[in-house]
Amino acid sequence: PIPVIIDCDTGIDDALALLFAVRHPGLDLRAITCVAGNTDVDGVVRNTLTVLEQAGAPDVPVARGAERPLLEPLRTARHVHGHDGMGDLGLPAPTRTAADVDAVTLLRREILASPRPVTLIPTAPLTNIALLLRTHPEVVRNIERIVFMGGAVAAGNATPVAEFNVWHDPEAAAILLTAGVPITMYGLDVFQRVVVPGADVRRLRASAEPGARLAGELLAHRGPVVDESDPGGGLGDAGAVCAVADPQGLTTHRLPVEVNLAAGPARGQTIVDRRRRPGESEIHDGTREQPLVDVALDVAVERYVKLYL
Ligand code: BDR
Ligand code: CA
Repeated sequence: PIPVIIDCDTGIDDALALLFAVRHPGLDLRAITCVAGNTDVDGVVRNTLTVLEQAGAPDVPVARGAERPLLEPLRTARHVHGHDGMGDLGLPAPTRTAADVDAVTLLRREILASPRPVTLIPTAPLTNIALLLRTHPEVVRNIERIVFMGGAVAAGNATPVAEFNVWHDPEAAAILLTAGVPITMYGLDVFQRVVVPGADVRRLRASAEPGARLAGELLAHRGPVVDESDPGGGLGDAGAVCAVADPQGLTTHRLPVEVNLAAGPARGQTIVDRRRRPGESEIHDGTREQPLVDVALDVAVERYVKLYL
């Protein structure tokens, strides 16, 4: 199996990502690190531990990370994810607490200890990852790839042009993009398209298996999407984990990406230079060189829904 670490802000769709990652036989989930985003970091830790217990995977190490972005204040998304960050479903409190090391320490330890290079899957603001890359740059040698949910080629969600995870901590995202590691950007353009049909959501909700049932509840909470008459639920962050388990379901182009760090209405936008054709090595117009990122432009929706189910 592929060794993976998820860095998350659980979060309804982060929870969907965790439920999938613990069950996919091709993935070896070695650790989970938590960061402030959808809710405060203590809420994220609590939600993450609860999800693991519901999923029957209580032993995965979980660590608490950054309480706020590098420069910005904390701006949660409780209006989307509920007061507890998990849709206020009344889930039980976890029976264990987080590891006694912080997220950056756990990330370093697990990355360097892995016999095979690790794939990192951040599904949250990139604060922990930026701190890791700046504090322990030696980890890069044992990172296979970073597949992050964040950014957008087209429209944003936190603002008209910026996606939430990048907007929340733009400096951290810029550090990630310039880290010299292979990066896949699973942005809003594909994120919003992978929707589980209503009939499948209903089947999950009726399951006798607690992890599957929780996935159904969370998906139902994310709907209605697309078809109002048969509300389904978007996989959201879980799609980024599908992209690691089954990369052939994702169409990516290697393109220059820059985060807009300027103050003002476009702060946090990922500026993707689509003038570069795949296979072309450089643009001959004097453009500043930007890091190249494998940007997801298309996704096999039914394939990922089937994989998830
Ligand atoms: C991202 O923001 C969060 O609310 C979701 O969990 C996802 O990671 C989408 O912009
Ligand atoms: Ca998230």
